[in-house]
Amino acid sequence: MKVRYLGHAAVEVEHAGARALIDPFITGNPHAPVDATDLHPTHILLTHGHGDHLGDTVELATRHDATVVAAVELAEWLAGQGVANTIGINMGGGVTLPFGRVSLHPAWHSSSLPDGTYAGMPGGLLIEGEHLTLYHAGDTALFSDLGLLQRHGIDVAFVPIGDRYTMGPNDAVEAVRLLDPKHVVPIHFGTFPAIEQDPALFQADVHERTDARCVVMKPGQVWESNG
Ligand code: NI
Ligand code: MN
Repeated sequence: MKVRYLGHAAVEVEHAGARALIDPFITGNPHAPVDATDLHPTHILLTHGHGDHLGDTVELATRHDATVVAAVELAEWLAGQGVANTIGINMGGGVTLPFGRVSLHPAWHSSSLPDGTYAGMPGGLLIEGEHLTLYHAGDTALFSDLGLLQRHGIDVAFVPIGDRYTMGPNDAVEAVRLLDPKHVVPIHFGTFPAIEQDPALFQADVHERTDARCVVMKPGQVWESNG
């Protein structure tokens, strides 16, 4: 499984010929390492409907005939936008795809589409691959039920640290304690002035207060794991 960070909350997971994009906000991200036209997803996975997560979903899904996995209300809205293949899921549920099982878990946030449509509950995405288990926390506050996810044996957790719209770095360290992943990657910071953070400080705190290793990935950076 190959994992590439695409800036903000966007992550690409590649395995067994499948390329899944999580929250592909590329166009409009001043630090995007690629052009949306460089991406060729087979799947798109969404944590919620806000513009900085929905991003280029409609255009990419339409152009590449990609299957979009999202909360049922969000999936219905996408179908209405002309996305041919959608799989709606809801809290605690999931679906098995070529690269692993994808399931949706609670996040404390809000979720609406850019046109104001209700987009269902916002979530975090657990991806259980053959050799790697990832958790993408989406946009969330710190809450104790994140601790329920640690039993899945998370290898890599992507957690927001930007503050303002999500938890900030201090609460994010506590979230890492609850998730108890092997590695953590900070996301959702630095994209805009309102969510500027120093990831090196977060990294030092993670190493001091948790058992996880913090890997600060630059937009465009690739994570390779065996298998
Ligand atoms: Ni959001
Ligand atoms: Mn966001």
